[in-house]
Amino acid sequence: MTTKRYYHIITFGCQMNKADSERMAGILEDMGLSWSDDPNQADVILYNTCTIRDNAEQKVYSYLGRQAKRKHEQPDLTLIVAGCVAQQEGEALMRRVPELDLVMGPQHANRLKDLLESVFAGNQIVATEEVHIFEDITQPRRDSQVTAWVNIIYGCNERCTYCVVPNVRGVEQSRKPEAIRYEIEHLAQQGYREITLLGQNIDAYGRDLPGSTPEGRNLHTLTDLLYYVHDVPGIERIRFATSHPRYFTERLIKACAELPKVCEHFHIPFQSGDNELLKAMSRGYTHEKYRRIIDTIRKYMPDASISADAIVGFPGETETQFENTLKLVEDIGFDLLNTAAYSPRPGTPAALWDHQLSEETKSDRLQRLNHLVNIKAAERSQRYFGRIEEVLVEAENTKDKTQVMGRTGGNRLTFFAGDINQLKGQMVKVKITEVRAFSLTGVAVEIPQLVTV
Ligand code: SAH
Ligand code: SF4
Ligand code: F3S
Repeated sequence: MTTKRYYHIITFGCQMNKADSERMAGILEDMGLSWSDDPNQADVILYNTCTIRDNAEQKVYSYLGRQAKRKHEQPDLTLIVAGCVAQQEGEALMRRVPELDLVMGPQHANRLKDLLESVFAGNQIVATEEVHIFEDITQPRRDSQVTAWVNIIYGCNERCTYCVVPNVRGVEQSRKPEAIRYEIEHLAQQGYREITLLGQNIDAYGRDLPGSTPEGRNLHTLTDLLYYVHDVPGIERIRFATSHPRYFTERLIKACAELPKVCEHFHIPFQSGDNELLKAMSRGYTHEKYRRIIDTIRKYMPDASISADAIVGFPGETETQFENTLKLVEDIGFDLLNTAAYSPRPGTPAALWDHQLSEETKSDRLQRLNHLVNIKAAERSQRYFGRIEEVLVEAENTKDKTQVMGRTGGNRLTFFAGDINQLKGQMVKVKITEVRAFSLTGVAVEIPQLVTV
């Protein structure tokens, strides 16, 4: 290539997609392309897509339309759709938008270089077959220099009746503990301070690895992995997501209480507070079991912060069943709750059921739930007032450049006055002076000495 070529990536969806985008950006840089902030200046545009709900899927079509037009004036523009919509739609997406050069499912992220070389050689490609995900040797181009995602298990073997993820992300594939530790050691050497271990159902980690007992007992669990990676020097905080109540163990809770670097924050989606609905969703637990898990966490770590996801308006949800969700939210008091109205997804059982609720009922319930969530989160925030919290500084506060932004161990966004050049990547003790439902403001009580890493 003679002239400099640029790429731009637009990422939708969850942390898995963000992590995949960072790896794909690393591959593109390796191929000699440079990042462009402006998609209209880029020679390669990659959309990493999400299809968890219909509105997520529709977003990509509106974006694509614009760039497909541009391609008519600039035929050497390369257009890629990666991620979950690519996997779901495959060939159909290529037919719908013939300007596309490459449609590639999430399992193919690490193969981007090979796929793209074939595109540059003149091919139009759909890569959506199930593959074994290879260990990646390319360095991801990460958005943050302080916190990093580390995939530990890809895919999901659950069959929640509303969910497309197993269709688009394939079966569970755990990475080997050694490969995970190696990546974390490398991150520490580069100056990263916090890692988040990622999996759609992180409690399933290891069950596909060799080393299970003949009875199927897993010898490589998430708990074992936490012990195994905990002592990597330089890493000060370890988080993990997403937990599944069906598999969440007391042994894991104890490990989190015992291991100082593991943050006291748990993201455990419950989806519904009603047992019949939980059954219809095939979630494999009751609201009583969910409550017991939270009680046990709070027994070991009274201050732990708890976040979750919930769906309202699942097919057949009655007013009383919805109220059971409200009741669970009222009783538990979440620090954060991601809420969504049920959206029927292609290829999922619940989409075909009778008793779909009207959009009106769904949005009414969503509003009522969100109202309660805000009240409860504001209550939970109160406990931080006047306290001294350790904040790991990540970036400037984009709305006020005299301030920096970081997170507490419990994952509350926190702002305080300071210079980002001095504080980035530092753990600072901050006295909390203002609390809001989902964020805090404070003043630094002790600025650490500038350390060079
Ligand atoms: N693996 C995680 C969640 C992955 S999807 C888990 O098991 O909890 C993220 C969230 O999107 C889910 O927790 C759920 O609340 C929501 N979600 C998934 N499918 C949905 C659908 N069809 N309609 C609305 N929300 C959905
Ligand atoms: Fe979807 Fe259920 Fe798997 Fe989560 S556990 S990704 S909700 S199928
Ligand atoms: Fe969306 Fe795919 Fe994640 S559907 S939520 S990007 S796994």
